[in-house]
Amino acid sequence: MSAPDNQRKRIAVLISGRGSNMAALLRNDCGGDVVVVGSNKADAKGLDVARDAGIATFAISHRDYADREAFDAALVAALNEYQPDLVVLAGFMRILTPVFVNAFAGRLINIHPSLLPSFPGLDTHERALADGVKLHGCTVHFVTPELDRGPIIAQAAVQVDDEDTPDTLAAKVLTQEHQILPYAVRLFCEGRLAVEGLRVRTRPARGG
Ligand code: GRF
Repeated sequence: MSAPDNQRKRIAVLISGRGSNMAALLRNDCGGDVVVVGSNKADAKGLDVARDAGIATFAISHRDYADREAFDAALVAALNEYQPDLVVLAGFMRILTPVFVNAFAGRLINIHPSLLPSFPGLDTHERALADGVKLHGCTVHFVTPELDRGPIIAQAAVQVDDEDTPDTLAAKVLTQEHQILPYAVRLFCEGRLAVEGLRVRTRPARGG
């Protein structure tokens, strides 16, 4: 069961590390409430940030499960206890199987540190520098079973400068991630996203 249209949406966030994107969701009004933050790592720094903000947390280790499907099923069950309208992957460093993706189809989004469809997968900043691109950035997209390939909700670009290193580029991109993730979540919570194939159209705000 999820919140009726006129109620604030219930947002679940999954993280694996420091959780700065999750914190950006707490800082900004994204049109909903983060009701739980989960992780595959009990020592993820972001879990402390969430707990300090009074948010429920859980950790489930993938090491305790025989295979990806079993881990994903446990994750689905843990999230469903909080009846989320939206699940946000914010630096969640696990490849998810259809068991998970299908359970939250249409209400599962991810933030990825590149301008997709360029540089799916890992080490995006190193690869962007190696390929000599002049623009790099980040993407928020709906998650589908194909890795980093779902309908794109929002993107932001940064300029790649001659002196950039993977670390400086990551820092520039991260600043943009903190802008577009709350923005994309707000669009979702306001019911303004219409998906047609790989395209996502944004409907005007009510009264706008
Ligand atoms: C972000 O760059 C995100 O795009 C990537 O991992 C990083 C997570 O950072 N997938 P944080 O945990 O949100 O600070």
